[in-house]
Amino acid sequence: MLLTIRGGVVLLLYFIVQYFLRRLFTRIRYEIGVYRYGCKHPPTLRPWDPIFNIDSIITNLKARVEHRVMKLDPANFQKYGHTVQNPFFGRGAIQTTSIENYQAMMSTKGNNDFIAARNWAMKPMAGLGIIDTDGSAWAYHRAMAKAMFTWAQINDPASFGVHFERMMGMLPRDESTVDVRQIFDKMNMDAQSEFCFGESVGALSEDDEEPRRFMKELGNAMFGAGKRLFAGHWSWFIQDKSYWESCQFVRTFISRLIDRALEREKNKDIDSEKTHRVLVYEYARAAKTREELVDMLFCLFMPGKDTPGTLLGHILFACARNPHVWAKLRKKVSAHKSLEYLQAVINETLRLYPVLDQTARTSQTGLTLPRGGGPTGSSPIYLLPNTMIVVNFWCMNCCEDLYGADAHLYRPERWEENLELPKGFSPFGLGPRNCPRQNLALFWIGYSLCGLVQRIASVENRDPVEEFVEDIALTHGSLNGVKVGLKFE
Ligand code: HEM
Ligand SMILES: *[C@@H]1O[C@H](CO)[C@@H](O)[C@H](O)[C@H]1NC(C)=O
Repeated sequence: MLLTIRGGVVLLLYFIVQYFLRRLFTRIRYEIGVYRYGCKHPPTLRPWDPIFNIDSIITNLKARVEHRVMKLDPANFQKYGHTVQNPFFGRGAIQTTSIENYQAMMSTKGNNDFIAARNWAMKPMAGLGIIDTDGSAWAYHRAMAKAMFTWAQINDPASFGVHFERMMGMLPRDESTVDVRQIFDKMNMDAQSEFCFGESVGALSEDDEEPRRFMKELGNAMFGAGKRLFAGHWSWFIQDKSYWESCQFVRTFISRLIDRALEREKNKDIDSEKTHRVLVYEYARAAKTREELVDMLFCLFMPGKDTPGTLLGHILFACARNPHVWAKLRKKVSAHKSLEYLQAVINETLRLYPVLDQTARTSQTGLTLPRGGGPTGSSPIYLLPNTMIVVNFWCMNCCEDLYGADAHLYRPERWEENLELPKGFSPFGLGPRNCPRQNLALFWIGYSLCGLVQRIASVENRDPVEEFVEDIALTHGSLNGVKVGLKFE
């Protein structure tokens, strides 16, 4: 008995000593790196619990549950500077809004040094493909996507127009209140599923039980993946059975869509012209196994299944609160003048209500970033291997140094006045890992917005909450939806 107690105490002591020695060595390695590369320390959030950072965990979790992560982060940046070390969730993590750091991370050279490192969070849902691989596996998927996209005729007004008209049919004509977030989401789902699988899932159809279930399960799976990305190595403790069930469900659903597409091809049930615009046929020829085909298509399908629709919703959210913007848009579009103002509205919305509010990379080796060290944040910083750096687009886009004192205001005119594009405005990302489907997303958004302003005279806000409340899963939606009254011509 005594022996086991003694054994236990020795073991415990061993772990405690090992823990502190590891911390000490890490610290020494860090200081050597700082010295060697002429770096300075970034400001660090100082939790009162320096060992497990429980208080930092609670602060972050609470902000997440209360939908105010996007209020917590700016407060930190304001207090500490554009780059801060946040010992958040017990791992080294740097948060930054510095454009120089962002550019350095996303540059070609940097692509091997900084990896996206998201496969453990995404793989149960999406498998392995362009969004969640790194290194040579990612390069393979990226090259393939590039070949497919230049080859496929993607901007196809005829097929997108069908979904757009169906969506228009669902908007009430009697000026009653409608949440367009849901409706745009369905249009996006139909367009994206048709593009990927040659058949829309029918989210906008009368009989929408199946697609509705699919969208719900996919939303749940993406929320679970987002939670895991956020929790890092604490993900282990997240026990949500429904996440695994949703992953299973959506994979089976996608697999069935692929079956049906291949069946149609076999039965010559498609016009040959259409196979040139549908990803599934091209990927089916390239994939080595069935599993690989599901993975690859899932990874292309997922990032586009809601993002353009969400942005369109944000545009109406903003216009409902700034009626003069809608009026001006109508005038400009109907005069068949240039679409510059329309573009300005899209840019201003991408700036103030980005669909992707942040992204992260993890350092592979000991590396430096150009900014964030020292009292003014102008010296380089050193990163140990396996440090996560989170780039906050949302805060970067509200920066007064770049956009002036009215940076927090929704004002599309700034894009007409400012002939030079603000440095760092890159809503579709930078470098070799940027959004490969930016053109298609902008085509869907522009087509829809043009159609809407031509037929709808005004958009009235019907949401008692004026401000934008975040709904963060993998992307950044509006928690209260986009509740508006539409006055048709
Ligand atoms: C308004 C709409 C959209 C926005 C704002 C957007 C933005 C972005 C951004 C910022 C990235 C880079 C993420 C990072 O650096 O970590 C990205 C990546 C990606 N986007 Fe989009 N996107 C949009 C629509 C779409 C659509 C419609 C698709 C269609 C399939 C798509 C497919 C992808 C893919 C596959 C990647 C990963 C690329 C890679 O890792 O190599 N996106 N997107
Ligand atoms: C909107 O931003 C894009 C970059 O994403 C830029 O190419 C375009 O010129 C901008 N449009 C306007 C009207 O400023």
